[in-house]
Amino acid sequence: MSSRLKRLELTWIGKEERPRLEPRILLEDEDLSYAKRVSANDIFDNRLIHGDNLLALKALEQEFAGEVKCVFIDPPYNTGSAFEQYDDGLEHSIWLSLMRDRLEVIHKLLAAEGSLWITIDDNEAHYLKVVCDEVFGRFNFVANAVWQKKYTVANDSKWLSESHDHVLIYAKSKETWRPYRLPRTEEMDARYRNPDNHPKGPWKATPIYAKRSGSEKEQAFSFTFKNGVVWSAPRGTSPRFPADKLRRLDANDEIWFGADGTATPARKTFLSELKIEGPPAPTVWLHSDVGNNHEAREESKSSNSEDPFATPKPEKLLKRILELATQPGDLVLDSFAGSGTTGAVAHKMRRRWIMIELGSHCETHIAPRLQRIVEGTDAIGISEAVGWKGGGGFRFLKLAPSLLEKDKWGNWIVSKQYKPEMLAEAMCKLEGFRYAPDREVFWNHGHSTERDFIYVTTQNLSPDQLRFISEQVGPERTLLICCGAFRGKPNLANLTLKKIPQAVLARCEWGRDDYSLNVTEQAPVVAVEEAKAEASSSDGAKTKAGGRRKKATPMQALPLFAGIDDASKSR
Ligand SMILES: C[S@@+](CC[C@H](N)C(=O)[O-])C[C@H]1O[C@@H](n2cnc3c(N)ncnc32)[C@H](O)[C@@H]1O
Repeated sequence: MSSRLKRLELTWIGKEERPRLEPRILLEDEDLSYAKRVSANDIFDNRLIHGDNLLALKALEQEFAGEVKCVFIDPPYNTGSAFEQYDDGLEHSIWLSLMRDRLEVIHKLLAAEGSLWITIDDNEAHYLKVVCDEVFGRFNFVANAVWQKKYTVANDSKWLSESHDHVLIYAKSKETWRPYRLPRTEEMDARYRNPDNHPKGPWKATPIYAKRSGSEKEQAFSFTFKNGVVWSAPRGTSPRFPADKLRRLDANDEIWFGADGTATPARKTFLSELKIEGPPAPTVWLHSDVGNNHEAREESKSSNSEDPFATPKPEKLLKRILELATQPGDLVLDSFAGSGTTGAVAHKMRRRWIMIELGSHCETHIAPRLQRIVEGTDAIGISEAVGWKGGGGFRFLKLAPSLLEKDKWGNWIVSKQYKPEMLAEAMCKLEGFRYAPDREVFWNHGHSTERDFIYVTTQNLSPDQLRFISEQVGPERTLLICCGAFRGKPNLANLTLKKIPQAVLARCEWGRDDYSLNVTEQAPVVAVEEAKAEASSSDGAKTKAGGRRKKATPMQALPLFAGIDDASKSR
């Protein structure tokens, strides 16, 4: 038996198949990009990418590997699999493969001190947990927080009335990663008072003993305060402070003996001296603290009353996650952007962000929402709480077509849609160079180190041309030339020559735009309408009325990861 087979792992049909992704370049649509300066610390370098997230994540890999501080994803929950009359095993398999492929790139993008947060429900939560364990390492699992997405009970529930989602939390490296603390609330601060008008301000009485039976010496410890009160730690506890510290606190009037001087002595812990920000986050997230689905849909209606997005997350939920995982200026990524809540919240909290969305709502919902935020006219969600005034910007990007296409004889050629600068950028990406064309130096399209450069051209280069370039490059530098062809092979030590497209043909899969479904035709699956009706949205999500079971359709018909979020609408 091979050692692979001995490993504890989840297996599924198609698990071994791995996509060979083309690292595409991204093209800006300037009409949909938006920016406005309001203050000196506005952030402009945010990206909204319209396209399949697997290709888009791959497109980001070269520039952002190890850079992202927090990834939040809210993928389609695969609710279509909840129908008992269908064998949903294959369906699980597809979903798991799609998630695994995306999680693998996400893992590469995360910074060493980064973390991943995934909302999911019972349909796939436990399978997804195991897949995440495989990609991140089981040790890096941090917690499964429970989010109360709904606060009313569905009386028509067949089994239990579902009121929560899971939030799976992984660290890239749990050993070193620590979440930030929750901010202090007014309620917490209100527990600090100043009845004796102490110059250090409001305080709270805290015990001067700890709940642990200490050494014999600690047990025998006794202290006399300046008012004559003699104190020892109660049985089973031990003093928290040595005598000299107690003496100092006593001298500074930082011991409280109660209003009438008869209470057990306690330390005055001053609000102004608290070192910790707030408490650690609990693993149960109540809707009163982080919002619920109803609230999210109300936000969505205010954002787009004509066509509210069906399955948004509340802004407060994202605020909680970004507070725990990031600081201002950190980079946040959401590759299942939906209506753009993650970017909206990240922007208002002054984090940098990247969002990816395949559906056309990227243009119709996300871009306008973010434009209003940049303009400062958005009063939705957390705007008031964070005092949002507008400013900053984002670039709207889309995936470039595949670099190669087949000609009428079936040979791979460079796509006719590629202009020279697109070709140069794409080749830089494929060869691991940073695209940075030098306007003065025609052969410098990018670099991999300070001395190693790349030149991309479709020309057929002659020996004289090559010799000329070699002289320009000089003995201290090296140049990779990717060209249509070259004649002769002059012995030029500082040049490496590669032909396009031959040199890259075997690198990856070309001409494939859809990584959403790669399954067999015959797999039966329940239609989406039915998924909506069946899940009947315990949280009150919009579903089509009277949804009846439809005939099974081929797997390709299920728009699970295919850009429309119908499957997820059932939530
Ligand atoms: C549940 S929604 C996310 C909602 C989001 N959290 C919000 O607050 O609005 C899931 C989104 O993932 C998108 N999606 C599904 N497959 C995708 C893919 N392959 N690439 C990019 N986006 C995809 C869907 O179009 C849908 O908008």
